Amino acid sequence: MDEWIDIAAVEDCPPGTSIERVAGERMVALANVEGQLHAIDGLCPHQGGPLGTGMLCGAVLTCPWHGWQFDVTTGRHRYSATVRQQVYDVRVEAGRVLVRQAATGAGEPQV
Ligand code: FES
Repeated sequence: MDEWIDIAAVEDCPPGTSIERVAGERMVALANVEGQLHAIDGLCPHQGGPLGTGMLCGAVLTCPWHGWQFDVTTGRHRYSATVRQQVYDVRVEAGRVLVRQAATGAGEPQV
């Protein structure tokens, strides 16, 4: 996923919320932390829960299935240094949110 992919309108993800979207063949969790958009792999590495539909508190996104928590700014699990979600670059263009795999991000999800 090297190219930018349009996944949402900016107003689809207001501050303090997260949403689930498809980017190519990947699920992406898009989160708005105080007006700053962040995107991480949306498939929870625990058992595949939909991270984007979880609860966002600050920069911490909680999986709705069993409560694993991730920092959406880094993709890192809140308590385990070895669990990390892929991070996507995010940009806004003409009111649309575009994402692409971050060149310096986490790479493939690590469990
Ligand atoms: S599937 Fe996400 S915490 Fe279990």
